[in-house]
Formats: sequence, structure tokens, C-alpha cells
Amino acid sequence: MKKLLDILTNEVAHAFADAGYDEKYAKVTVSNRPDLCQFQCNGAMAAVKEYKKAPLLIAEDVVKKLEGSACFKKAVAVKPGFINLDLDDTALKGFMEEMSKADRYGVGEPEKKETIIVDYGGPNVAKPLHIGHLRAAIIGESVKRIGKYAGHEVLGDIHLGDWGLQMGLIIAYMKEKGMDLPTLSELEKIYPEASARSKEDEDFKKKAMDITYGLQQGDEEYTRIWKHIMKISVEDLKKNYEKLSVFFEIWKGESDAQPFIGPMVEKMKADGFAKISQGALVVDVSEESDTKEIPPCMILKSDNASLYTTTDLATLVQRVKDHDPDRIIYVVDKRQDLHFVQVFRCAKKTGIVKDDTKLFFLGFGTMNGADGKPFKTREGGVMRLETLLSDVYEKCLERMKENGAEMSDEERSDTAKKIALAAIKYGDLSNQASKDYIFDIDKFTSFEGNTGPYILYTIVRIKSILRKYEESGGVLSDKSFAPPSSDAERQLQLSLAGYNAMMQGAFEETAPHRVCAYIYEVANAFNHFYHETKILSEADEKKKDSYIALLLLTKGILEDCIDVLGFEAPEKM
Ligand code: ARG
Repeated sequence: MKKLLDILTNEVAHAFADAGYDEKYAKVTVSNRPDLCQFQCNGAMAAVKEYKKAPLLIAEDVVKKLEGSACFKKAVAVKPGFINLDLDDTALKGFMEEMSKADRYGVGEPEKKETIIVDYGGPNVAKPLHIGHLRAAIIGESVKRIGKYAGHEVLGDIHLGDWGLQMGLIIAYMKEKGMDLPTLSELEKIYPEASARSKEDEDFKKKAMDITYGLQQGDEEYTRIWKHIMKISVEDLKKNYEKLSVFFEIWKGESDAQPFIGPMVEKMKADGFAKISQGALVVDVSEESDTKEIPPCMILKSDNASLYTTTDLATLVQRVKDHDPDRIIYVVDKRQDLHFVQVFRCAKKTGIVKDDTKLFFLGFGTMNGADGKPFKTREGGVMRLETLLSDVYEKCLERMKENGAEMSDEERSDTAKKIALAAIKYGDLSNQASKDYIFDIDKFTSFEGNTGPYILYTIVRIKSILRKYEESGGVLSDKSFAPPSSDAERQLQLSLAGYNAMMQGAFEETAPHRVCAYIYEVANAFNHFYHETKILSEADEKKKDSYIALLLLTKGILEDCIDVLGFEAPEKM
């Protein structure tokens, strides 16, 4: 389905052409003076140079050609040369009808369907999930769902950190204490202790490094322990991610890339890209246009050990072989920016990925506490994800009590979980990913303002009206739209009309915050309409039908949007 702005631009382009001007000046945008008009075209001003004519005269010529247009009920030329436009109400109604019937409300299929991998997660096995992993999970899951909704084949890859020194540390510690295969709760205690030990005890650290090396060479005993640790950790991770409604299609990790390293390195050498520098094997990735120095990409250290970059490059080899992706999106802490610049350049330069494969780094900022410093527990420690979730859950239960909706204990608990997830995810996603933000429980859980619970509340309100309508004998199917009969209704329809353009934009820009900004606008427009309109007591049946159609469309769009953001609405709250 076409985007509304494209339809309008097309209409204005005909008018430009009819009046003897180039169509390229006809771009229509949403008005930045909504008090004056809904849409505008500033092309007459841009055309001055070419036609050497006052912009107002050009605008007037174009407006004359728009007389009688079925698209616009108003088209006026104003000083110095703007064209102010209002959409015709019947055309708007037609657009609503088309959207209601269209696939995904008009988002439809992309011009070129891509295979996309989203690498978001990267938890390190054997360490408990903490809030540092929260942003990757929340943003990545949403980026993935937006891509799927935009019609692409999208796979989420957790890319476990399962191959580093932490494994050696854990095994060294277990050996020292004479432990055999640990349970999950033992494992959680081992890592912090082992890590602390390695900082004070050089011998212990050396041992851990030897074990890491042994494991990477395939030592049988270490491999047996490693497999066990992987099994219990992955089970636990799955449970935890599920609580966040985060699901990965691919459960691979750094260890899976290891077999690809050898051949990759050989090829880089043979092709002349990798060179020895100060004992290490490196690929130069600097470019002439660089304004700051980009150091060479390290492939092997002087002791032949591989690095984080090596693993990421080998993972690319594997992904190309397994999925031949058109685009790979990495959702990782923005402090890893340089690492990804090096990896991407190296992968392109050495031909691991094709020139036109899009490699995109979505670096996110830090989640801070009220004091503006990275989020901590009250005691100053690293906050576990479970603790954060249960704190927010308790707060939501409180809010629900204030609100007073009646429900069973089970429904109450289920509802509070849904609200808590919405509060956390919307609180995060409504900020541009690259920015730091302050995690403010009170603000995020409020049922009013730019929050997840406010969006849910709006959906719940619509559901409740529709329920009442059905209870009084109304039927939801076969409702048809009428042209808007009030400003509030028109405003809501106009907001909904921007849906497909917004969603495609959110995909192209890898920007979940655009979805948040959009649903906040729609929720506000809906609530305004709700307060201005007697919906169920409307006597004119045609009008009432149209209201119901509008409610259904608003609900459908809001529900699809929160689904791509990764949460859902309860029945009551
Ligand atoms: N495990 C890494 C860390 O904790 C994050 C991995 C991000 N993904 C990647 N392909 N490097 O920093």
C-alpha cells in the first residue's frame, strides 16, 4: 500500500507539471504549523532559482491546478511561497478503509526481501545475567521484530560469550577446591570468587590461562566440564530471556566460530592482507579519509592466541556460509564502537563479506540510576536482572491497587508482569538507543505520560469499550468508516494514516524509538477523541459504526506496535 505522503506528493507533482514547473519540487510533508494546515509543500521556494519568478507566483500557479482535486479540501498559496494543504475528508476515510483491509495495515512487503541477522545478547556464560545485558536484549529483540514486520527474513543470534578466560578461571577454581560438575547456584558463586582470586594470585591466573588454552585445544577433561557448564547455563539463560519475552533463533556462541579461524587466517595471509607487525598478525584497516587514527585489526597475538576481533571475523565467515545475509546488525554497548569499525573494515577488505553486505553497529548508551551514574543496587553492587524485574513488578502491583480494577489474584499477578515489562521496555526503547538514560521506576511505571503503562492503559480502554459494545448486542465485523465528523476524529485518523511510513522508517533507520514516539502520538490522539466523543451513546448508527471501525483500527495498530517493541497488553489494569 502506498504511503499517504507519496500519494499527496504525486498529486501535487501533477499540478507542478500542469503549471509548467518541474515535478521534482512537489515534495509534500506533514505541516510544521498544524494550526494552519495538515500538510505543506515548500517547493515553490526551491523553484525560484530555476524559473526566476517570485515564489508566491509559482505557488499560486500550482494551487490553481489543484482546484477540484479529490485529494485536497484546501490548497492555498501563502507568503512567501508556501503551499498549505488540508486533506479531503472523504479521501482520508478512503485511506482508513484501505488500511483496515491491507496486509499489516499497509506496511506490506518490501521492495527487496533481505536476510538479516541481528546479533544482540552476548551474555557471558557462567556469569549471571545483569542489567548490563538488559539493553542489548530489549533493543535487539525490537530491532529484530521490526525487521520481520517490515517483511524481511530476520534471525536473532545470541552470540554467547562462551570461550574466554572466564571458563579457565572457573575450571581452575573447581580443580583447586576438588569440585566436580557444579550446580547452577554453585556456578554463580564460583565466577566472582575465581575472578577475584586471579587478581591477587598470579599463579592462579597462569593456571586459568593454561586451562583456557587446553580447553581451546580440545582437552577431554576440560571439554567435559565446559559442556556441563554450557548446558546448565544455557537452560538458565533461556528461562531468563523468556521472562523478558526475548527469543533467539540462533543459539551459537564464540566457540562455534573457532573452527573457522585457522582457514580464515591462512587465506588472509595468502591473499596478502595479513602481515606480521611487532610479532603479531595484523590487517591494516586505516583509510585515507580517516580523521582519527584507526589502529590495525589484530588477528593473532604474538603467542598465536586469537582475540575478540578474530572471533567476530570468524563468526562472519560462518554466517556467510550458513545464511548468506544481506545485512547484519550488531546491538552492543557503544563503547565497542572502535572494535566494530575494525571488524567491519577488515571483513570487507579481506572479502569475508561482499561489498554490498550491510554491516551495521547499533551502539547503545548506558542505563543510569537516579544519580546519573551506571545503575547499581542500593548497596552499590551490580544489579541482577531478576532483582530489577521483581522491583518493578512490585511497583506495578501498587499502581494497580491505586487504580482499583477488580480481578483474581492470578490475573492480578499476570497483569502486573505485563505492565512491568511494558514499563521497562518502553522506558528504554523510547530513548534513542545511542543515548544514556536514567532508569526511573516511578516515572516508568506511571499510568500517565510518555510511558509503557500509559500505552497499555489506552489499549485496555479501547478493549473495554469494544467489550461493552458487544455486550449490548453490537457486532464488530463489517464496520465501515465515515468521513471524520470532528477535529478530534480527524486528528486520530491522520495519525493512523502515517503508520506504514513510520514503520518502514523505523526499519530503515534501525530505530525502535520511532515506534514509541508514534504510539504516544496515536494514544494521545485517541484519548483526546475519547474525551470529546460520546461513542456508544451515539444515535446515528452510521457514525457509531465508523467510531467502532476507528477503534478497531487504532487497537490493531497499537497492538502491532507494542508487539514489535516486545510486550503485550492485558485485558484490564
Ligand atoms: N560478549 C560480549 C561482551 O560481553 C558481547 C558480544 C557482542 N557481540 C559481538 N558479536 N561481539 O562484551
